[in-house]
Amino acid sequence: MLEVTDLHVSYGGAVRALQGVSLHVPDRQVVAVLGSNGAGKSTLLRTVSATLRLHRGAVVGGSITYHGKSLAGLDAARTVRLGIVQVPEGRRIFGRLTVEENLRAGGLGAADKRARAASRDRVFDLFPILAQRRKQRAALLSGGEQQMLAIGRALMTAPKLIILDEPSLGLAPKIVGQIGRILKAINADGTSVLLVEQNAVMALGVADTAYVLDVGRVSLSGSAKELAASDDVRQLYLGHTATSSPGVVAGKPDVEESLRPKATLSRWQG
Ligand SMILES: Nc1ncnc2c1ncn2[C@@H]1O[C@H](COP(=O)(O)OP(=O)(O)OP(=O)(O)O)[C@@H](O)[C@H]1O
Ligand SMILES: [Mg+2]
Repeated sequence: MLEVTDLHVSYGGAVRALQGVSLHVPDRQVVAVLGSNGAGKSTLLRTVSATLRLHRGAVVGGSITYHGKSLAGLDAARTVRLGIVQVPEGRRIFGRLTVEENLRAGGLGAADKRARAASRDRVFDLFPILAQRRKQRAALLSGGEQQMLAIGRALMTAPKLIILDEPSLGLAPKIVGQIGRILKAINADGTSVLLVEQNAVMALGVADTAYVLDVGRVSLSGSAKELAASDDVRQLYLGHTATSSPGVVAGKPDVEESLRPKATLSRWQG
């Protein structure tokens, strides 16, 4: 379905963020991309969703095709019309609009009124909490609910491929689990998922296949099961090393926290 081949991307003509990345998202599958800070995960997603230019980045080599057709030169709106939708980074939603209004804004690109209504019903099925809060201003939602709204908004155009950049970032373990189950449900509806995560437990639990990005290059790839069992991934992302320190957040030991990638613990939250 989506084929990324030998992709090279740079910013401002200088920073080489991606250096020959190849990746394949088969139809109706979930593909996860793991990697620590600065590995190039967001850059990869921006390139696929045609938002790279907004960040002053440019493709300097390689190709991306979707159902055999090149995505080169398409803008973000055209890409959305092809069925590729990215959930905005940092769960950006319209805080002053209600839940319902946010969803309506997401559905502006939908085929027609009936398609929009069907998508909205599906979003409310997936996220009952959003149905309950439909008249509430989005700024008043919790972080987890805002992430659900951001995903719900992306679903309003009934995409064929949904792209997410670290949906679990900053959320409590219980909510992360919920987001993982929702991604599974979205995929079961027939939507392919390309997911970037630092939370390897969540990502490998949801994905069929996964890739590890390391400073702009794919260092590992395989089935999610294989990667979850691989020593490299366990050491890098699952905290299963003899030398790794137990996860302690604000002085409070947390078993689930110790399963998070080490990078998350030292992540710059600015
Ligand atoms: N707009 C930009 N201008 C210049 N350099 C950038 C820009 N965005 C990212 N970079 C650089 O490109 C490289 C890859 O960044 P990218 O944001 O894709 O990494 P990431 O894997 O998403 O990291 P994180 O986990 O921190 O989100 C980094 O060296 C980063 O500093
Ligand atoms: Mg990123």
